[in-house]
Amino acid sequence: MDIKLVGRGEYDRATEIKAFDDTKAGVKGLVDVGTVNVPKIFIRPPNEQTQFATCHPPNMQIPVIDLHGIDDSDDLRKQIVDEVRIASKTWGFFQVVNHGVPVSVLEDMIHGVIKLNEQDLDAKKVWYSRDRAKTVRFNSNYDLYHARAANWRDTLSCTRPAVDDPKQLPSVCRDETIEYTKHVINLGDQLFGLLSEALGLKLDHLKEMGCAKNYTCVCHYYPACPEPELTMGSSKHSDPSFLTILLQDQIGGLQILRDNQWVNVNPISGGLVVNIGDFLQVMSNDKFQSVQHRVLANRIGPRVSIACFFIGQTRTDQPDKSYGPIKELISKDNPPLYRDFLISEYHGKFVSQGLDEKPAFHHFKL
Ligand code: OGA
Ligand code: NI
Repeated sequence: MDIKLVGRGEYDRATEIKAFDDTKAGVKGLVDVGTVNVPKIFIRPPNEQTQFATCHPPNMQIPVIDLHGIDDSDDLRKQIVDEVRIASKTWGFFQVVNHGVPVSVLEDMIHGVIKLNEQDLDAKKVWYSRDRAKTVRFNSNYDLYHARAANWRDTLSCTRPAVDDPKQLPSVCRDETIEYTKHVINLGDQLFGLLSEALGLKLDHLKEMGCAKNYTCVCHYYPACPEPELTMGSSKHSDPSFLTILLQDQIGGLQILRDNQWVNVNPISGGLVVNIGDFLQVMSNDKFQSVQHRVLANRIGPRVSIACFFIGQTRTDQPDKSYGPIKELISKDNPPLYRDFLISEYHGKFVSQGLDEKPAFHHFKL
């Protein structure tokens, strides 16, 4: 009897998920038709509602690193490298200010994402896809068919080949995306230099390993949610990247897990959030941490964020490269904690599970 009921429940869920996906209108589509109760497919499991419920004091902040004048003085650069090392080791997250990306470029990018999501459904639908071979994809919940609960979020993903050949990008946010990614790639180069030095390696080390080679720009739109306590904007996860640079608007909701408690990543005007991804935790042999984070749903919205994931050498026109703990960081006292793996192997693990599963790098632990 019980088994039959569970079976029926699962069947209903599958049907509801498919029906939602078929609308191609995403979560925004639900809000637009006046949904006042969060549909069942979005309701987060009870353990997610209670686990790690307490939050650190709201004024607790992840480190803020000021890059102003970094190229003007060796002493200042050294000091910044120290700050990056400590932040990457103890927090896995920091914010940068005076990073060289003009505020107008940040604002335009956020506005571009709003325009994309708020255009007519017929124009937006054209981009709706789950085909990972597409260089530009719009959808709601990339893991819709795997995750235990769907998130209150719609997403446009643009891969590097689309940015390199901009006619592939949606025209409504094309110029903004080109301009923003141009700046963010430069900042990424600079950060990989600082991170290399923070590991005691030469400036070009991570870049030469191909960490900055390829990226995906993931633009999230989190509509206002009528019952935010029942669902999540993004479930708890760590990032499948070397490094992520995140632009968020001023609404807030991003939290990181530290000592089993959630810490708010409060938006700083003009700031960018930087976090260590899973691959860099592996390559640094745990000297840096890839920290789990999540985004709360909010009665206020939409909230917009743009995550640029640096994902290494994964282009189909180049041989896949294997990554593992960096040789220079390994010694008798510091044996490797992970085996080498291909990025494609990692992504295979990542996409075959929900965002809410344990970080995929655990599969490569020795
Ligand atoms: C992500 C992510 C956070 C945010 O895209 O991996 O964690 O604030 N985004 O949207
Ligand atoms: Ni993330």
